[in-house]
Amino acid sequence: MRAMTRRAFLKTAAAAAPYVVTSAALGAAGRPPPSRRAAIAHVGVGGQGTGLLRGFLSLPHAQSVAVCDPISDRRYNRAEMVNKHYADQAAAGTFRGCAACNDFRDVLAREDIDAVVIATPDHWHVPLALEAVRAGKDVYVEKPLGISVAHDKALREAVHRYGAVFQYGTQQRCFNTHCGFACELVRNGYLGQLKAVHVVAPDGATGGDPAPQPVPDGLDYDMWLGPAPVTPYAHDRVMGIGRWHIYDYAIGFIAGWGAHPLDIAHWGYPHVPVEYEGTGFIPSEGLFDTVVHWDVRGGYAGGAEFTLKPGGDKTTFVGTEGWVAPSRGGIAAEPASLLKVKIKPGEVHLLQDNHHYRNFVDAVLARRTPASDIDSAVQSDIMSHLGDIAIRTGRLIRWDPARETIIGDEEAARMLTRPMRAPWRL
Ligand SMILES: NC(=O)c1ccc[n+]([C@@H]2O[C@H](COP(=O)([O-])OP(=O)(O)OC[C@H]3O[C@@H](n4cnc5c(N)ncnc54)[C@H](O)[C@@H]3O)[C@@H](O)[C@H]2O)c1
Repeated sequence: MRAMTRRAFLKTAAAAAPYVVTSAALGAAGRPPPSRRAAIAHVGVGGQGTGLLRGFLSLPHAQSVAVCDPISDRRYNRAEMVNKHYADQAAAGTFRGCAACNDFRDVLAREDIDAVVIATPDHWHVPLALEAVRAGKDVYVEKPLGISVAHDKALREAVHRYGAVFQYGTQQRCFNTHCGFACELVRNGYLGQLKAVHVVAPDGATGGDPAPQPVPDGLDYDMWLGPAPVTPYAHDRVMGIGRWHIYDYAIGFIAGWGAHPLDIAHWGYPHVPVEYEGTGFIPSEGLFDTVVHWDVRGGYAGGAEFTLKPGGDKTTFVGTEGWVAPSRGGIAAEPASLLKVKIKPGEVHLLQDNHHYRNFVDAVLARRTPASDIDSAVQSDIMSHLGDIAIRTGRLIRWDPARETIIGDEEAARMLTRPMRAPWRL
């Protein structure tokens, strides 16, 4: 089925003028032929999406065939970047094979596309990934996962039902191999009995100018908003950092940045705390209204303590025999001899790869589970949602991990889902 799709790509692309089939396209210059490359569409090509695009362009087994963004100059510029990249590799020196589109459904309708890389603002992650998976595509989805727990669970169900390959954008899993090593220390008992998991992530932001402004030329604002409520356009909402800090589109850095160290927390100790209490500040002035200065405390069923606070980015695992603290920037441990441990062949090994994007493409081609799968993505994202709900309600939140719901608090349980603007739905 997948091989057919890529063969179809070769056939249609070769037939379509002005696509130029070069020696490189046919497998010279160290690249496998299109029949053995994953055809990738990039949906959302702003800051992170462009970084991902560059990363995927460097992979010989991937071919970027479309970019999609409701900001017209962005999508044309990035499509041009792709075309130039492949043209530079082609003997003919030309290449026009990358499409630029506004509506992601045009991408999903294409039979030749194997996988979709989603780097939109957070409110679009799950609705868009769901449509992609239902259209038979594999998905690389940026963190954080969904803007509600219901979103997360819906995507997980679809990924399993359709047998899609899913990679979460928690790139530390491959790019920062010391994070995986730290988790292996925890999983293999080198810290003794686990007593606490402390997670810090950069704090959110306040402010933003809410004054309505004209929608800029070339922006399809309705498509940008998608399932979010209709609100007057403001620069800080869309082009500024509002996309990360406005509750309609995100739950703020407690998830947006928290996703990274929480992913490591769950990788090392694959459980979700069952109790959460928290304080934080929810700005009532300006445009940004997601929680800042959060201070979440909780506990795991096994008795270990859990905290989530603002700070750098770090996950500290504390055990009876020592602690280890990986972050993007490095790793520390006490006793320091922990850092010299060699994980033995019969022990738990977590590291799959040292390149997160290649890891995804290889998984797409081999039909296997990549390094950051949907099940762990859902669990780590749930922790930030429950912390946020504890802060918003001001109450102790109790989580039933088997039923995956909040117990004993109906109002809080209702916060596990969010309405979506029609026609968009889960
Ligand atoms: N993994 C990481 O380290 C990392 C780093 C930064 C950002 N991110 C994540 O990447 C995502 C994007 O963040 P960003 O900073 O690049 O934002 P951005 O605003 O720069 O880019 C998002 C792009 O998505 C586009 N978009 C909006 N709706 C769309 C739709 N319906 N279809 C296609 N494109 C659409 C926007 O027009 C914009 O160009 C966020 O979810 C963020 O949390 C991850």
